[in-house]
Amino acid sequence: MHLMQMETFSFIVFYSLISFLVLKLSIASDTITPNQSFTNGETLVSSGQSFELGFFSPGSSNNLFLGIWYKKFPEIIVWVANRENPITDSHGILTISSDGHLVILNGTKSVIWSSNSSRTAQYSVAQLLDSGNLVLRESSNSSTESYIWQSFDFPSDTLLADMKMGWNLKTGLNRFLTSWKSASDPSPGDFIYGIDVIGLPQFVLRKGSEKKYRTGIWNGLRFSGAGVKSTPVSTPTFVSNTDELYYMYKSNGGSMITRFVVNQSGLLQRFVLSEGSSEWTIMSITQTDQCDDYGHCGANGICKINKGPICECLQGFIPKVQKEWDMFDWSMDVQGRH
Ligand SMILES: *[C@@H]1O[C@H](CO)[C@@H](O)[C@H](O)[C@H]1NC(C)=O
Ligand SMILES: *[C@@H]1O[C@H](CO)[C@@H](O)[C@H](O)[C@H]1NC(C)=O
Ligand SMILES: *[C@@H]1O[C@H](CO)[C@@H](O)[C@H](O)[C@H]1NC(C)=O
Ligand SMILES: *[C@@H]1O[C@H](CO)[C@@H](O)[C@H](O)[C@H]1NC(C)=O
Ligand SMILES: *[C@@H]1O[C@H](CO)[C@@H](O)[C@H](O)[C@H]1NC(C)=O
Repeated sequence: MHLMQMETFSFIVFYSLISFLVLKLSIASDTITPNQSFTNGETLVSSGQSFELGFFSPGSSNNLFLGIWYKKFPEIIVWVANRENPITDSHGILTISSDGHLVILNGTKSVIWSSNSSRTAQYSVAQLLDSGNLVLRESSNSSTESYIWQSFDFPSDTLLADMKMGWNLKTGLNRFLTSWKSASDPSPGDFIYGIDVIGLPQFVLRKGSEKKYRTGIWNGLRFSGAGVKSTPVSTPTFVSNTDELYYMYKSNGGSMITRFVVNQSGLLQRFVLSEGSSEWTIMSITQTDQCDDYGHCGANGICKINKGPICECLQGFIPKVQKEWDMFDWSMDVQGRH
């Protein structure tokens, strides 16, 4: 009996020690403090193990970029810091500069990228949150208001849950998505998706200066024509007041996670992953009322409300311009996904 108790006791001590150590490690590993740095090969992992931050080389590229990806899906990059300034010398360092900014240095210690915000802190720390947001903040204060800089304010091609797309009207900050140039080059590509505030607000996808798609106009309550709709996995919010005008979605929780991406061909896609699954699927939502629009699918097109792309050609016809037809598909899609 005595022995049993002893064993139980050491068992408890042992495991308390282990969990203490694990706790210490995971706390340490989502944060960089001044005078700490990490280099390629090392990563930060968010506390809930959802996201990871580190240097990567996309596709066939040898350039190094600092990015955030899903811990379980390192190939899915949701954010890139130095999109336009790759490190070309295979040695990257992430650190906090003496003046409190988050900086990326190359092998010869030149500043390749900087968080460069107008505000600074006494003692700033950078933390990768479990939402996928990389924040720079005063170490003693973790309130949202105290963020000096956050990656969510500078989206790449992906909108995660709780990320705002749109405007801070007070500061003029506009958050929008930009496609990658190619699978090996995360620099800004052709497609930009954001909220236009010239006139009445509306979602607009642009290719260069050309408008490729827009929703109906915001009438103060909702977008006419295209609804900002709930999906089984996400609930949209649209905020419009004197300070802010943005779209955001909340994850419905449960066992599915979701992300919204503008891909290199200008397709706006919502992906969904079920818990335990290793494959992301493109979510599709049945449209309502799109087929009612006269000539919606063009001459010799048939509109089928239950189809993924709802437009089909009549038998014997092919799309006049395949590219435009492809665009058409996603324009249907996006309306269902918001
Ligand atoms: C960082 O290191 C420098 C030089 O070693 C030191 O003077 C400074 O106090 C350190 N800063 C912090 C915040 O630890
Ligand atoms: C680091 O970047 C600077 C500035 O862009 C550049 O002049 C230098 O050659 C780079 N260092 C290496 C080792 O590539
Ligand atoms: C930081 O911002 C200032 C003002 O916007 C700009 O002039 C400067 O080039 C930026 N520096 C870096 C490293 O991005
Ligand atoms: C944290 O920062 C916010 C905004 O700067 C401030 O309102 C709040 O009082 C601070 N909290 C603490 C505990 O210092
Ligand atoms: C964009 O997404 C569509 C639909 O999934 C896909 O067919 C296309 O290849 C993608 N474009 C690129 C450049 O990956």
